[in-house]
Amino acid sequence: MKLHLSLLFVPGLVYFSNTASAQPTCPNPPPVVINSSQPPADICLPPNVPGVPFQFFDDFSWRSFIALVWPALNGQRGTPDTAKTVGGPGSRVFETYKELAEVFHNDGSGPSNWNDFDMPSQNGCNVQMAFGDVVLASFSKFSNLGQASFGSLLGPLVAQNQTYVRYLTSFNEPEFTAIQSGKWYLRANIAAAGVTFTNGSIDVKSAWIDMSNKNPQRFYTRTAWLLDPQSGTCSQKLVGLVGLHIVQKTPSRPQWIWSTFEQMDNVPEAGAQSPFNFNNGGGTTMPSSNPYKLNPLPLPTPPPFNVSRIQQISTSTQSTNTSYQAALAGTPWQFYRLVMTQWPVCNNPPCNPTMRGTPGNTFPGTGATTPFANTTLETFDQTSIFTGCMACHNVTQTVSGVTQGTDFVWSLKDHAFPANVPNLLLKDPSFKNLQSLLSKSKIPTAAARTAASRDKAAENSVK
Ligand code: HEC
Repeated sequence: MKLHLSLLFVPGLVYFSNTASAQPTCPNPPPVVINSSQPPADICLPPNVPGVPFQFFDDFSWRSFIALVWPALNGQRGTPDTAKTVGGPGSRVFETYKELAEVFHNDGSGPSNWNDFDMPSQNGCNVQMAFGDVVLASFSKFSNLGQASFGSLLGPLVAQNQTYVRYLTSFNEPEFTAIQSGKWYLRANIAAAGVTFTNGSIDVKSAWIDMSNKNPQRFYTRTAWLLDPQSGTCSQKLVGLVGLHIVQKTPSRPQWIWSTFEQMDNVPEAGAQSPFNFNNGGGTTMPSSNPYKLNPLPLPTPPPFNVSRIQQISTSTQSTNTSYQAALAGTPWQFYRLVMTQWPVCNNPPCNPTMRGTPGNTFPGTGATTPFANTTLETFDQTSIFTGCMACHNVTQTVSGVTQGTDFVWSLKDHAFPANVPNLLLKDPSFKNLQSLLSKSKIPTAAARTAASRDKAAENSVK
């Protein structure tokens, strides 16, 4: 008895003790399922799985990916067309989610209803959007943070075809509805009490490449309104999906489950074919920090630099990928890979909603040996777990006794009205912490700076 109790408290063994809330019907191993257009409601984890339960979380990620890349029902935003298969034609479910610019208007006005579209002036291309349209007008995964004192810390990503990568954030209906009905798009309404989202909320961030001079064969491609940074005008162009973040709040994981996918050929690694999207294959190492800044954006688009993956994808994740890719053969989705799933770790899930998302409470966590970044989105944040998804998004939570948390959702803090007031954001302690995290996140040039010491410094800055 005594031995049993003490075993429960050995940190490395916390994965064993999830019996209390285990669903009885979680098959082990999880079967590969590609015919469901619904994202899983939660992770299905059988009791007593030895070691890190990679395959169960990775299976969750893949099933969620399949639901989000499913063809959407014509005219019904966020709804899958169940008469089609995952490889069928049409706009994908996640492309019909409500986009960032639709949710947060520059004039503080409320968004149009879920299935509707705003006036052209509310999007970055000034076009009348209709069902299935995608507008790509952002050159940073941090969109307007580039203007808000962060310009020097952030840089754009240049693909090998010397075009800038474009980014897009979108929200599913439950998450959008919470923002709309709570008027959380107004800063005053989130600043005082903070906000909490409902289970089933999903937000995504996608990264796209201009397909000029690229062979589209191993891509999911579509036409999108693309902002040309030089002329400031938009035109419809062929774009290819190179990265996709999917974040879902579930009953057992109130800190959300964090998944990230990439096109297979982004960087040289197992399964990638040259020409790579972000590496010339010539062996030149990746620079230690982004040679380009966001503000001002260098124009014309400067030459690309090489990008690499710093930590290898876990062998378990690789084998889950192989199984799903085989099942998806004949569709563009066979050319996408899950890079990692990050999740909150706790005894007896559901995890306590007040548990922080710091590396000690997550997998991957402190001492991570598997990736926690997407090469197209966190290109230069690959070495310290303190700039991993959950650690960085945890910074949105209650800080120093000030209740103004946004439940791990950064866009609320970044875009709630007013947003474009100089130095306004820096009055929120979250942004000071973000600034300090970003200024430390660089690829180490040599063994000189050990990840451990940087992690320690970063940990102190987020406390
Ligand atoms: C160093 C900080 C940092 C890291 C690391 C980071 N993010 Fe974010 N993320 C942000 C910020 C800031 C925004 C808001 C950007 C904006 O307003 O356009 C954001 C936005 C997002 C969004 C849109 C919803 C939201 O919260 O606003 C998603 C989805 C997302 N990130 C997923 C991820 C995933 C998955 C990872 C890890 C693979 C990750 N992020 C890593 C800082 C970070």
